[in-house]
Amino acid sequence: MASKILSVFLALTLASPVLSTTVAEKVAQLRLAPTAVDRVKLLQDDSDWVFDFLNPPGGAGETIGGGGHTVSANAGTFPAVIGNGMAMTIGYLGPCGYNTPHTHPRATEFNFAVNGTLQAGLLTENGARFIFNEVKPGSAAIFPKGAIHFEMNTECEPAVFVAAFNDEDPGVDQIAQRFFGLAPAFVTAALGGDVGIQQIKGLESKIPDNVALGTEECLKRCGIYNKNQPTAQRQPRVPANSFEDSAAPGAHDLSGGISLNNSDGKPNPLIIGLISAAGLMGLGYVALLVGCCVRRRKEKDGRTRGAKYFKTGSEFAPQGAVYEGGSYDPPKH
Ligand SMILES: *[C@@H]1O[C@H](CO)[C@@H](O)[C@H](O)[C@H]1NC(C)=O
Ligand SMILES: *[C@@H]1O[C@H](CO)[C@@H](O)[C@H](O)[C@H]1NC(C)=O
Repeated sequence: MASKILSVFLALTLASPVLSTTVAEKVAQLRLAPTAVDRVKLLQDDSDWVFDFLNPPGGAGETIGGGGHTVSANAGTFPAVIGNGMAMTIGYLGPCGYNTPHTHPRATEFNFAVNGTLQAGLLTENGARFIFNEVKPGSAAIFPKGAIHFEMNTECEPAVFVAAFNDEDPGVDQIAQRFFGLAPAFVTAALGGDVGIQQIKGLESKIPDNVALGTEECLKRCGIYNKNQPTAQRQPRVPANSFEDSAAPGAHDLSGGISLNNSDGKPNPLIIGLISAAGLMGLGYVALLVGCCVRRRKEKDGRTRGAKYFKTGSEFAPQGAVYEGGSYDPPKH
């Protein structure tokens, strides 16, 4: 039955001229084509064989963050790769632009630095050492399939890289977004249990979109001070990984494992110290409120609220926080 439908579909698609089809339809036809010659027929315009990375059709394949953007030609954006086992991503990294740690589940990457020096690191698997290089313009770094890797533009000028992949659909798995997108109780436990879920939530809310801004050293050197970045690439929340939903696995453990006792059952001196300090600060605050004029405090609070980047824990910007314009605008093409 299935093969009958398939052959009818094939007959239709191969016999009739292909008018305007979506990328997905074209890819489906190419995947069903019996031979490479049939695929050539399906890609009937010569321009079907060229991908414009500077003006990708409809913005397809773009990943945009506060530190730059990438454009990918792959099975999702460029049908001509089908049957050829390759894909390509061009990185447009702003000053200190940072292609944050990620893996490609289905492809090895060969990343060529065009006109800027990249700092590139990789970890292939448990037991393998960390590998780090300064990749100069004209050199290319290889990142084996599945390896955690990153690249950062070390310059205060925009830089371009060209990354080739040995799969039509390399896929990307961003480490920070995905790890912090697991069920919160399991993130906490994987970090040793002494980090509370509210702290996890605070950290998670700040994970910047790729391409992000790079290291403090680079940002200082290049005079980049506005570090507000969009955070829309974080893992979507469903009941199973919700911060609030009691249906989330381990959700009853909302304290995040912070306990008055340490693992051998003795009072945890760090926690006791923190509680004492918090108590003292509370007392001081009450004294301030009583002894001082309330209005001036209100004004001060209003001012410090603007410095979102320096807030910690649950005061981090909530999901969907408005991107307040980074110091680097990704180049428009
Ligand atoms: C690298 O090339 C890009 C794209 O042409 C350009 O915008 C950028 O300024 C270049 N950077 C350097 C350091 O030449
Ligand atoms: C902390 O330790 C005390 C005394 O060792 C014990 O009675 C208590 O149950 C412990 N509490 C927790 C939360 O482990």
